[in-house]
Amino acid sequence: MSQHTSALAIETAGLVKTFGETRAVDGVDLAVPAGTVYGVLGPNGAGKTTTVKMLATLLRPDGGEAHVFGHDVVREADEVRGRVSLTGQYASVDEDLTGAENLVLLGRLLGHHKKAARERAGQLLEAFGLSEAAGKQVKHYSGGMRRRIDIAASILNTPELLFLDEPTTGLDPRSRNQVWDIVRAVVAQGTTVLLTTQYLDEADQLAARIAVIDHGRVIAEGTKGELKASVGAGTVHLRLRDGGRRAEAAEILRQALDAQVQLEPDSVALTARLATAAGDTAAEQASRALAELARTGITVDNFSLGQPSLDEVFLALTGHPTHDTEEMAA
Ligand SMILES: Nc1ncnc2c1ncn2[C@@H]1O[C@H](COP(=O)(O)OP(=O)(O)O)[C@@H](O)[C@H]1O
Ligand SMILES: [Mg+2]
Repeated sequence: MSQHTSALAIETAGLVKTFGETRAVDGVDLAVPAGTVYGVLGPNGAGKTTTVKMLATLLRPDGGEAHVFGHDVVREADEVRGRVSLTGQYASVDEDLTGAENLVLLGRLLGHHKKAARERAGQLLEAFGLSEAAGKQVKHYSGGMRRRIDIAASILNTPELLFLDEPTTGLDPRSRNQVWDIVRAVVAQGTTVLLTTQYLDEADQLAARIAVIDHGRVIAEGTKGELKASVGAGTVHLRLRDGGRRAEAAEILRQALDAQVQLEPDSVALTARLATAAGDTAAEQASRALAELARTGITVDNFSLGQPSLDEVFLALTGHPTHDTEEMAA
């Protein structure tokens, strides 16, 4: 492998996993710098969990290689296991125990004495906003609390590398934000995080670099900025007071923002797809557009700014939406 291996938490080359006819992971190359959050973004069935399981030594690759902190996941699986922790659909917490009991038990299993295990459990419950729920059985936790206790359980011993497999799928916005704060805190402690997600905004919030995967392959990789540059910065939806000035407004948006403007079926509505201008956020571009319109006396009744969705990313990168009709029918 490359001479930079020591600075990489994960390095894979041509990683493959097949299940019968399905090539779940079909030649994945990844290079994850240590000490960062790395986002693996892709729709359901893209191969995210299968990739994570191979890196965490839970599944054996059928081809290619993977190293975690320089250790081969097959030949040096024990070395890898000692350095990683995994949070996902295979949580280790026991539903019938309370949050506190779970963390103390897991701490004891990790070899901590009772007092140290209790202290660590208390710290984590506090840090994760679960102090009040500490005495409740986990089966009575909300979805957001459940995700947080799962993550707490996985960082009892601060791992060098933490896999978070879709940690916020299905959570309400407030719980998502709490999980995001936890991820930021974990990486601030020096842990490398590999985060899988179906949400572009989540990868955007947390990850330094992002790999987009589809059908078991990496179809794009880079910093957030690089990825967005290939997709566009977002979309502005506008509703004008006076539909008669729509063509004029469209022209202003084209010129002021270098945007692709689309006239909507609703005669007062238009949509501008923002290009990524260097050093200019979507919000800055949008406020410039509003200022230009105001200057020419065009009244905007309603306005919204949308981030590019995963669908838009996929459309831009692959020319097809995340789910083709076959999958929709299945
Ligand atoms: N144990 C398994 N047996 C058979 N097929 C599997 C198994 N695990 C995953 N797959 C298939 O491999 C593909 C990738 O799955 P997965 O890695 O779970 O994707 P993701 O986590 O991105 O949703 C899917 O087509 C899925 O149906
Ligand atoms: Mg998955």
